[in-house]
Formats: sequence, structure tokens, C-alpha cells
Amino acid sequence: MGYIKSAALEETGYVVLDSYDQELDPKEWLDIEYNDWKSSGDTRFAPLASAFGEIECNGFWNHKPPRTDKDGVWIPSQVEKAPNLTRRAQEPGANVGRCRVIELQPTPYGDCLYNLHQDDNNRLNPDGTGWVVRGFFNLTDDTDSYFVLRENRTDPRGEVRIALPAGAQLIIDTQRLWHAATHNGTDPRYCLITSWTSGPELDAYIEKYHGVNRAESVDVPQDVLDHGYAEQARKDAARAAYYAAKGQAEVRAMSEA
Ligand SMILES: [Fe+2]
Repeated sequence: MGYIKSAALEETGYVVLDSYDQELDPKEWLDIEYNDWKSSGDTRFAPLASAFGEIECNGFWNHKPPRTDKDGVWIPSQVEKAPNLTRRAQEPGANVGRCRVIELQPTPYGDCLYNLHQDDNNRLNPDGTGWVVRGFFNLTDDTDSYFVLRENRTDPRGEVRIALPAGAQLIIDTQRLWHAATHNGTDPRYCLITSWTSGPELDAYIEKYHGVNRAESVDVPQDVLDHGYAEQARKDAARAAYYAAKGQAEVRAMSEA
């Protein structure tokens, strides 16, 4: 039968929507409660919706009873502090699973490449229902930062680098595309990440905000790219050696972020 997916994401796996006027909103992401959650890179998360409305970020399948990343429960204490973020996550009218703000410390391109991962968005998702994708709303004005998307983790051909000024809005099939953020700067980057179920509501939202499935890739000097490729290879090799020394098979689990 197959999953219900957005035609807009079929070709490239992502769309860039109209930019949001972030300056008009208060910085709600500074008011909400964060917890430490192991993810790719140096991060903390502040959930707005979770499996049972607690301030935790675990995959819904890690709870009892396990379930897929749908029907997230809004956390009253967080929603109260972040009404605009909540409104924006709910605006499409698509089912919301997890919804949280990520705080990311500065991350150079090479570390970003090492952090590239696919999300485990559709575990236990019943065939014939909507495929879970993720929305990324950049909150801070990270003018020197960019989201990196690849079809293959270690192959830079076709890499897309999407700029992350305040108000940038992306929807990405993060189970299909390898992804991570390069964050050049001194302050943390904040981004609202929402798990949405694909379907007519999400399609209408993408259309309303003129989603385009091609972005102008951020220009990065060749020497920075080359240094990043080398860093990724070096860190991958160090990681493999670490697991070999422990006599364990290397496991690169799909990240939650
Ligand atoms: Fe992710």
C-alpha cells in the first residue's frame, strides 16, 4: 500500500517555505525549560510536545505502550511560555508528534559532516498512513550558518547547504536525507523542530507558503569544504578504531535529532 507522502518533497526530499518575520515575536525559546538529550553535536532540547506531556525527549516507541511519532501531548507549562511557537507548530493542522526547540552550540563544517544522520521518524508507523517528516523553523539569526543535506553521508556530490537566517522555514524528509547543521558563530543556535504527519493538511501548508524544492546552496570556500571532508573521515576512523578496540561492532544508531 505504501505511505502517504507529500508530492512536493518527492524529488529532493525537502522544501523551503517563505521566510517568517521572526523579529516580530518575543524570544520565547529563552523562556522555556531545556533538558540534556543525547543527540548529534553539543545540544540541549526544550520539548513543547512529548509522548505523555512530560518534559522529556524520548522517541515515542521507547515508551509503554510503544507508538509511532504521532499524537504528541502538549506540555502546558511550556506552551504557556511559548504561545507563538506552539501556534506555528499547529498552524498546518497536520498531526504533530514530537515538537521541541533545539539549542546547538557552535559547530564547524567538519563536525557537522561527522554529525550527519537520518532521523528515525517512522518506526511503528502503520503502512497506508501519513509519512512523518520534520519542520525546522530557525529562530536565531544565524547568518553564517547553514543546514547540510546529503543523499549519502560520505559523498559530497549533490550536497545542499541551506542558509539559516532568523525566520528560515524548511520541511525535510529527515529519514531519507542525511542532515546536520553547520553553526558558525559564538552564541547557541535555536530552532523549532516539529514532527508532522504528511497528508492534505501539510500539502496545503506547503502550498500556502510557496514551498520550493530547490535552494540556492550557500557558497563555502573550497578549502573549508576540503578541510571538512578530512575532518569527517578522521573522526569516522577514530570512532571505528574505538569500537574495534572494545571488540564491539560499530553501531551508528539513527539519532533522535
Ligand atoms: Fe535529525
